[in-house]
Amino acid sequence: MYGGFENFYNREMPVKYYRDTAVFFDRMMKKYARPYYTENNIVLDCGCGTGILTDLLAQKGYDMIGLDVSSAMLDKARENCDGSGKNILWLCQDMTKMDLYGTVAGIICATDTVNHLTTEKKLDKFFSLASNYVEPGGIFVFDVLTEEYFKEKIDGNVFFVDEDEYTCIWHGKYSEKSRICEYEITSFEKEDENYFRNDVSVRERFYGMEEITERLENVGFENIKTFGGTSFEKVDKNRGRIYFVAAKPKIKLKK
Ligand SMILES: C[S@@+](CC[C@H](N)C(=O)[O-])C[C@H]1O[C@@H](n2cnc3c(N)ncnc32)[C@H](O)[C@@H]1O
Repeated sequence: MYGGFENFYNREMPVKYYRDTAVFFDRMMKKYARPYYTENNIVLDCGCGTGILTDLLAQKGYDMIGLDVSSAMLDKARENCDGSGKNILWLCQDMTKMDLYGTVAGIICATDTVNHLTTEKKLDKFFSLASNYVEPGGIFVFDVLTEEYFKEKIDGNVFFVDEDEYTCIWHGKYSEKSRICEYEITSFEKEDENYFRNDVSVRERFYGMEEITERLENVGFENIKTFGGTSFEKVDKNRGRIYFVAAKPKIKLKK
């Protein structure tokens, strides 16, 4: 899906965005998960892409697992984190079938990775696995794009980036009926005197806030909170992104 696009993705994503996301996740962990237990310090970055966020969270002291279905994205992640001194476990797996070694204190699934699950069945499978792997008292954090974003910002529009070493053009098409947004991305990357062309198609699906909340509750998450941004803004669908924080109920010990 993202193969051949990893260099471009890596260069274009703003580091400030990842720093803000890392701070947001860390605050949520300290507020909701830490009061209940301290032993498990493992965090899963699900659909970790090029690993920038994984590395930032490792720098904050979490024992990180970076999981992605794309080996090309994971190669870039390893390259990015090489030399950071942190021992990150990288797993090339589909998150709808993920198989971890044990439970984790938290899961982060950032930058509309959840929208990449294009059927309700896949979404439910992922939520159910996330619920299995997050320890009681732990949290699951992710963001999704709103339908307003797909309709107003993406549908029918063409985008481009033109630098000396590479050029990338992409356009998006959103169908309200299928709720699917299809992106066609073409990039030209300079190697010596030649430019190499690469074509990638990415599909995302829109899921509404209420249906996501219901599906999270169905698999055992509770205390579900939504925000419009990483500074805890109120949800505003026109801003384009909604952040979810869901908690796994802590075990109630009998007296
Ligand atoms: C938009 S990128 C986000 C990457 C990263 N989370 C970030 O914040 O930059 C979506 C990522 O999800 C991965 N992905 C998509 N579907 C997946 C699946 N079923 N299982 C695991 N990873 C998946 C893609 O390979 C890609 O790296």
